[in-house]
Amino acid sequence: MSTGLYRILWTAVAALSGAAVIAAEIPVKLSVEVGRPGHAVSPLLHGVFFEDINYAADGGLYAELVQNRSFEHADSFVAWGIVNRGGDGQVTIETSDALNSKNPHYARLTVRDPGKGFGLANYGFGGMPITAGEDYIISVRVRGTANSPLIASLEDETGRTLGTAKLEGIETRWKKLELLINASGPATDARLVVLATAPGRTDLDVISLFPKNTFKQRRNGLRADLAQKIADLKPAFMRFPGGCIVEGKDLANRYQWKDTIGDIAERRQNWNRWQDAIESRPAPQYYQTYGLGFFEYFQFIEDIGAEPLPIVNVGMSCQYQSKELAPLDKLDSYVQDALDLIEFANGPITSKWGARRTAMGHPASFNLKYIGIGNEQWGEEYFERYPVFAKAIRARYPDIHLVSGAGPGVDDKSWQLAWRKFSSGMPAHVVDEHYYRPPQWFLENANRYDPQYRNCPIEKTASPVGGSCPKVFAGEFAAHDTGDRKPSLRAAIAEAAFMTGLLRNSDHVVMSSYAPLLARAGATQWTPDLIWFDNTRVYGTASYYVQALYSHNRPDVVLPVKVEGAPVSMDLLPPRTVATYGAEPLPPFKPEFIPTLYAAAGQDKRARETVLFLANPFAEPRAVTIELRGAGAFAPQARAFVLTSGNPDDANSFESPSNVTPREERLALSSATFERTLAPYSFTVLRIPQQ
Ligand code: AHR
Repeated sequence: MSTGLYRILWTAVAALSGAAVIAAEIPVKLSVEVGRPGHAVSPLLHGVFFEDINYAADGGLYAELVQNRSFEHADSFVAWGIVNRGGDGQVTIETSDALNSKNPHYARLTVRDPGKGFGLANYGFGGMPITAGEDYIISVRVRGTANSPLIASLEDETGRTLGTAKLEGIETRWKKLELLINASGPATDARLVVLATAPGRTDLDVISLFPKNTFKQRRNGLRADLAQKIADLKPAFMRFPGGCIVEGKDLANRYQWKDTIGDIAERRQNWNRWQDAIESRPAPQYYQTYGLGFFEYFQFIEDIGAEPLPIVNVGMSCQYQSKELAPLDKLDSYVQDALDLIEFANGPITSKWGARRTAMGHPASFNLKYIGIGNEQWGEEYFERYPVFAKAIRARYPDIHLVSGAGPGVDDKSWQLAWRKFSSGMPAHVVDEHYYRPPQWFLENANRYDPQYRNCPIEKTASPVGGSCPKVFAGEFAAHDTGDRKPSLRAAIAEAAFMTGLLRNSDHVVMSSYAPLLARAGATQWTPDLIWFDNTRVYGTASYYVQALYSHNRPDVVLPVKVEGAPVSMDLLPPRTVATYGAEPLPPFKPEFIPTLYAAAGQDKRARETVLFLANPFAEPRAVTIELRGAGAFAPQARAFVLTSGNPDDANSFESPSNVTPREERLALSSATFERTLAPYSFTVLRIPQQ
């Protein structure tokens, strides 16, 4: 029966008898051409996108426990309190004869009588989590006139001391002191207390406290549990440092990578543009110490075996905010920053920036292969600036692949302009597309990269950077569920369904990443996010497990699939919500029908397994007849990884982190054609071993 006739018949029957029931009963057949492998799957397909939003860096992945360690916040005393145990003195913020010009403020203790201690306490990011038996590294920059030590202690919420260190040898010139404190007991809400013990004047700056146990035990490192949660995704790449943070609210506020390397005392702090980017979620104390800077980023990437993908500012600030542009004749320093970043990553130890990397303990190249020019910039202003960077980078580093933006949305005028440019000579290897849309959009758009819909048809254009036309990077996406944008099972399954299309078309869509990655509970500017954390706990959303299932099961080659069965009426889906992002409103809602089943398949050559990806975003179970064509002999024992919990509104939380997590099943196959019923709102990965 033709699809058209089936649709008419189906619509008529649905009208008479209730669409949901009928849709569930429509038989679906999935044929997988195991004997006719297709194109190779991009090894970079599944990665992550890190941006310092939702306190992802300071107070998040960066393991520093002290907030506002350099007193550089606009309100210098944020997170600090004065401690006076029967003494007499004062604490002031000073700037004269500072540690260095990038770190102009410091705290001065003027103590007339120390009593049992006079000084400062830092309360971290809502209290410091301390683990019994662990070592903590305290370091300070200090100078003073009092010829007596400072006492640094960890105290729990009741004031009980968990460990102390005596900071001795203070001189009248600035000096760094560093000691270990071993914690005698645990605390979730501890503070670091630094007390003078004698009358006199003491200046303090860059007061830092780190757990010794960071990810891979790196100095100035990352929070072990959070870094591990990212590593567990096995991401093929990590895009960094954003996001709008690259752009800044204005150009002065933009991300400048040279501020983010070297001694932490020499990194010029910046305010975070997410302080006021979302009016309803002000975060006035949100700053970037850049402690997690470009060296730490490259090192983390190397530690987890991913590829780096840095994004550089293109001479444009946020187009939602100040829209500030660097004049075209003043782009040189921006371009030079981009070239220097590549040299910092890859340059020989004899080069200026390669030598800086070497001095940081990493003489080997970080093997950077990709660079993003601008975040999600749009319009003619972008396409005047982008080629200046592209030309300079191509001239100096012809092997580096260029990643361009395409604006904040897809299908709108900005995106159309971008693809017109790329189809007519604008040099790019990969174009970064973003879509934050309702779950329905993801169901309607799962085929958007099928060859017939590609916006730069292979036969049409030869790209000046080689190849036929730029590839696609689905660089920021997430299904935004109705109302409160809950990271629900419904949203996750819509993403899983959409990603079957990314995998099937992974000759064209070569990279993808969900966004944003991290969210500190109680401190978010943007939801949903992939991984949530507080000071001691971490959990992945249902969407996290979709990303993990795709990443862990990424095949080497795609196998063609064919779904036979009536398409499903849009009536079966919950009402469409209005998306609130993008330079322009969403285009009108068009499709009337969507596929019955979302499927992709591939072959994992090393494991010698056929891998099927099957998403059922509907409220009814879906019975599927699966035929593995040309399969040859296969082992009867297959494995299924099934993500569902039954209720589309379900989500994970700190209390129930495993509410929606994949469970593994074994299944016995007796023939190359078999039946499988997909649970409502489920995503299934089937791994079938060949013999
Ligand atoms: O992921 C959140 C924001 O969404 C990013 O900063 C920006 O690139 C996009 O608009």
